[in-house]
Amino acid sequence: MNILVTGGAGFIGSHTLIELYKAGHTALVVDNLYNANPEALRRVAEIIGIPEIPFVEADIRDRQALEAVFANNRFDACIHFAGLKAVGESVEKPLEYYENNLNGTFVLLDVMRRHNCKNIIFSSSATVYGDPAIIPITEECPKGQCTNPYGQTKSMLEQVMMDLQKADPDWNIVLLRYFNPIGAHPSGKIGENPNGIPNNLMPYITQVAIGKRERLGVFGNDYPTHDGTGVRDYIHVMDLASAHVAALQAITRKQGLTIYNIGTGQGYSVLDVVKAFIRVSKVDIPYVIMPRRAGDIATCYCNPDKAERELGWKAQFGLDDMCRDAWNWQKNNPEGY
Ligand code: NAD
Ligand code: UFG
Repeated sequence: MNILVTGGAGFIGSHTLIELYKAGHTALVVDNLYNANPEALRRVAEIIGIPEIPFVEADIRDRQALEAVFANNRFDACIHFAGLKAVGESVEKPLEYYENNLNGTFVLLDVMRRHNCKNIIFSSSATVYGDPAIIPITEECPKGQCTNPYGQTKSMLEQVMMDLQKADPDWNIVLLRYFNPIGAHPSGKIGENPNGIPNNLMPYITQVAIGKRERLGVFGNDYPTHDGTGVRDYIHVMDLASAHVAALQAITRKQGLTIYNIGTGQGYSVLDVVKAFIRVSKVDIPYVIMPRRAGDIATCYCNPDKAERELGWKAQFGLDDMCRDAWNWQKNNPEGY
């Protein structure tokens, strides 16, 4: 298939391109480079072994630019990663987040419809479950109250796409609810490249390991978990990448709208991750216990059986692989791209 990949220069998009090409697909990336470096796409092409990844630098809110992309190309489906994703920043800048994530997706869906491309895989998030009613979380678990505008945009866009598919059954829509993607391509050539102080656990740990940050702050050790620190379902970004290739099957089978949890089904605490990282990297990670972070929940991990049953997809990598590859990327690229 030929796939339009919005936000394909970013963390998850760049890794997904490798799996798409490996499976025999081709892609064109549209990204405005707001949170990405074009060097990522150059390295992706190098890993795949092609001269370059077709790329248009454009904002998906720019209808004219998107129209031109569709006029010049034929796509079988779109994988839609483009969006703003920093939880804390979304609380500070709600309007920017709602505007970019909602409006960008509205323009994209409309232009797709006009060009009769009605197949889309959307990057949703475990955040739509809020503080989950059931652990492990199945897709039937009711959506919860999101504590931040970023999460709201994911929840709202899921609803928009449900309504769209109901109104026009020609649409095939896959909502992938990612749990916590970490790690990097095993080559160490591409990885997560946060701007400024990392918000997320793994990039913070790797920056402590490389000496950029003094110590990790552990946000709370009084949660009702095995060691008091927050438990999450970390998933290797290459496993997440291959989930997108598997999800294309649901599109081919014309399944209408389907939702899949994409995680390993295994929960690890902050301190489990720190210990695994120290073991794998042989680098010490000093940490200090801090107060809880506003909006955090105690435990979040999924039941990923539906994706295995229907798509034949299952995570292959464990926590040690995630730590090894995250560290390999950071070590080889201390300043990122
Ligand atoms: P990322 O920021 O690395 O990638 C997003 C890309 O979209 C960036 O390259 C950015 O430049 C681009 N972009 C943003 N707004 C755009 C616009 N208006 N037009 C064109 N390009 C635009 O983030 P990521 O971690 O790769 O996440 C990809 C998707 O997955 C996002 O939608 C994110 O919300 C979602 N997601 C991420 C996580 C996570 O923990 N990383 C978890 C759940 C869901
Ligand atoms: N944590 C720390 N110190 C840090 C950073 C994080 O102790 O410096 C803790 C958090 O309190 C939490 C765990 O590490 O217990 C994971 O935190 P992350 O920020 O890495 O991830 P979250 O689970 O908070 O959120 C992530 C993404 C969201 C997404 C969600 C579910 O940031 O966008 O996973 O997919 F919605």
